[in-house]
Amino acid sequence: MDAPLVPDAPPAEALAALDSLMAQGAAFLGSRYAIMGGAMSWVSERNLVAALSNAGAFGVIACGAMEPDRLAQEIVATQALTQKPFGVNLITMHPRLDQLVQTCLDHQVGHIVFAGGIPPGTAIKAAKEGGARVVCFAPALALAKKLVRSGADALVIEGSEAGGHIGPVSLTVLAQEILPHIRNVPVFVAGGIGRGEAILSYLEMGAAGAQLGTRFVCASESIAHANFKRAFIRGAARDALPTIQLDERFPVIPVRALQNAGTRRFLDHQAETIRRFLAGEVEKAAAQLEIEHFWAGALRRAVVDGDVENGSLMAGQSVGLVTREQPAVEIVQELVNQAAHALAARRG
Ligand SMILES: Cc1cc2nc3c(=O)[nH]c(=O)nc-3n(C[C@H](O)[C@H](O)[C@H](O)COP(=O)(O)O)c2cc1C
Repeated sequence: MDAPLVPDAPPAEALAALDSLMAQGAAFLGSRYAIMGGAMSWVSERNLVAALSNAGAFGVIACGAMEPDRLAQEIVATQALTQKPFGVNLITMHPRLDQLVQTCLDHQVGHIVFAGGIPPGTAIKAAKEGGARVVCFAPALALAKKLVRSGADALVIEGSEAGGHIGPVSLTVLAQEILPHIRNVPVFVAGGIGRGEAILSYLEMGAAGAQLGTRFVCASESIAHANFKRAFIRGAARDALPTIQLDERFPVIPVRALQNAGTRRFLDHQAETIRRFLAGEVEKAAAQLEIEHFWAGALRRAVVDGDVENGSLMAGQSVGLVTREQPAVEIVQELVNQAAHALAARRG
């Protein structure tokens, strides 16, 4: 018989032992569990963020390209749905990064997550002086150490199994490279995590907690379009692939997503643009821009409009572990119970 989807309540001692493994991460976040809901543009808005925080995890608003006024509205709306702490994820190349930091501070956001590159020292300083805790993504050990020296209060290490924009290294390797050496700030692991057993194993390796994105897309509270959720429920790990780059002269930003007509057309688009460049019909810089513009607005098309053929279906390899729509609290409880059951089994 298949294992039940929501396992029976684990023994109290195992839950207590899990609590102590999560203690540093949970204290840092101010949440019941050291589980972060990774910010996902268009998906991580007030409803999912509040639902995750209310479920004992830690929701994070994805600011994406929002302007400061729009972000302020989203923060206020989230605060109306939860009394629990949540964070805001800011993309470092946003042209109004400083104002976005100030917007978070003006609205008493306790945690600012800087993503999409190394944040400028001024942004880290402003966030900290304003009373927020700063979380940064560390793609390698040297950068992890540099970010801690620059004032990061916690780090996320995200493996290439993750959905969305990815680096080249898997979490299995990043965790070994970074966890043993960064002991002075909490380190959260991300990428490819879909079950509690995996969270437990990274906690045992020294992680303070875990950040999951893909696993939360199909939460009942997530406003992602039904077509987007259906694609996740149908998708297997092998369908969530990184973008293919055709020519090293025209770099593309690697994004892991479910394959669809859009990803296939992107190959044709690159090939045709490169052909026009070689034929002298378009300058190199203009050709590069044409390639980069292909995906503009594509995540919104899929998440909000439900165009799962032409939009971007950003998803991690853990998409294969998403099997149905469930309330956020059920997903969080399932992860915690799986971790605690594994811990109980290990300790006999
Ligand atoms: C649809 C989607 C959109 C995402 N958008 C963002 C984003 O705007 N900013 C960011 O820092 N990470 C983004 N991510 C990454 C998540 O925050 C998280 O780190 C990642 O999903 C963890 O890996 P997993 O998908 O394997 O759980 C996105 C991921 C997905 C699946």
